[in-house]
Amino acid sequence: EKGTYPHFMLKEIDEQPFVIRKIIQEYQGDNDDIKLESDIRQAMLDADRVYIIACGTSYHAGLVGKQMIEKLAKIPVEVHVASEFSYNMPLLSEKPLFIFISQSGETADSRAVLVQVKEMGYPALTITNVPGSTLSREADYTLHLHAGPEIAVASTKAYTAQMAVLAILAVDTARAKGYELDFDPMKELAIVANAIEALCDQKDVMEGIAKDYLSTTRNCFFIGRGIDYYVGLEGALKLKEISYIQTEGFPGGELKHGTIALIEEGTPVIALATQENVNYPIRSNVQEVVSRGANACIISMKGLDQTDDTLVVPEVHDLLTPLVSVIPLQLIAYYAALHRDCDVDKPRNLAKSVTVE
Ligand code: M6R
Repeated sequence: EKGTYPHFMLKEIDEQPFVIRKIIQEYQGDNDDIKLESDIRQAMLDADRVYIIACGTSYHAGLVGKQMIEKLAKIPVEVHVASEFSYNMPLLSEKPLFIFISQSGETADSRAVLVQVKEMGYPALTITNVPGSTLSREADYTLHLHAGPEIAVASTKAYTAQMAVLAILAVDTARAKGYELDFDPMKELAIVANAIEALCDQKDVMEGIAKDYLSTTRNCFFIGRGIDYYVGLEGALKLKEISYIQTEGFPGGELKHGTIALIEEGTPVIALATQENVNYPIRSNVQEVVSRGANACIISMKGLDQTDDTLVVPEVHDLLTPLVSVIPLQLIAYYAALHRDCDVDKPRNLAKSVTVE
């Protein structure tokens, strides 16, 4: 039920702090341990490479998950779009572990890959919001997102939940390997939940950004570097699927290799800057587009060197910034769609679970 909300999407955006806190509660073991099936821990330890398979928003969460697993647990990770992987399987390592990320657990493209890899005898873990779903039943292991039913076609709370669970999995594996980490995932996720709450209280700001940058435009670009690039991809998908504005997310450094040709007077460019190591490079990309007439909106993180940014989001751990920087993008997409009288919860041509290949 929507309750007092006009749309499920807005309700689900607002639920994100609760979802993160629920995940903390569900995965918190005794004495600061992580509560995780020992078989899953072992499967991670046994793997010489992790293959993440997913579609759409879940694929974008997988890209962030790669950074988390590689940086914390030091296992190489490849992330693949399911429909590409099944027809074009790359050369696999000797001991792969497959991780399927799917809100619904019913996505046919992902299931096709699961069937293939099970036939090949490889272990599979599904991270899903629906534990009894097909992808959950057919995999060896399941991690539950605990996000509650997601009704709006545009995925919001499942995305942040997926990244939170991936962070917990990465830390658990790192600890099992005996690595000393200065990263307590539960403490850091609690900070994230508060940061999301603070942003959800600033809806008028996001609505203003949607008005200022997107009310008449036909297109919009999202740029970022590293983990911010992955969030840009998600921001671009969210905006295009519900507002029908043509969007593209790409790495800041790629601008000069083609896309900059499309920048003209007033073209909106949303830039993300949450990472110290790319703060200056992404700002110089913003300069490149501004000098060609772009209407640039910079969303950055507190603690970084900045001047006149459009929105500064609260500071969280480096690896968890996507859970926070995506919130304004979700809300901006929501208001842009609303202002265009689009059917926010049920965009044209799309279904909540895509059960055909
Ligand atoms: O249920 P899944 O996570 O497997 O769904 C994957 C995609 O179909 C889904 O994320 C889609 O891209 C959303 N509509 C994005 O908001």
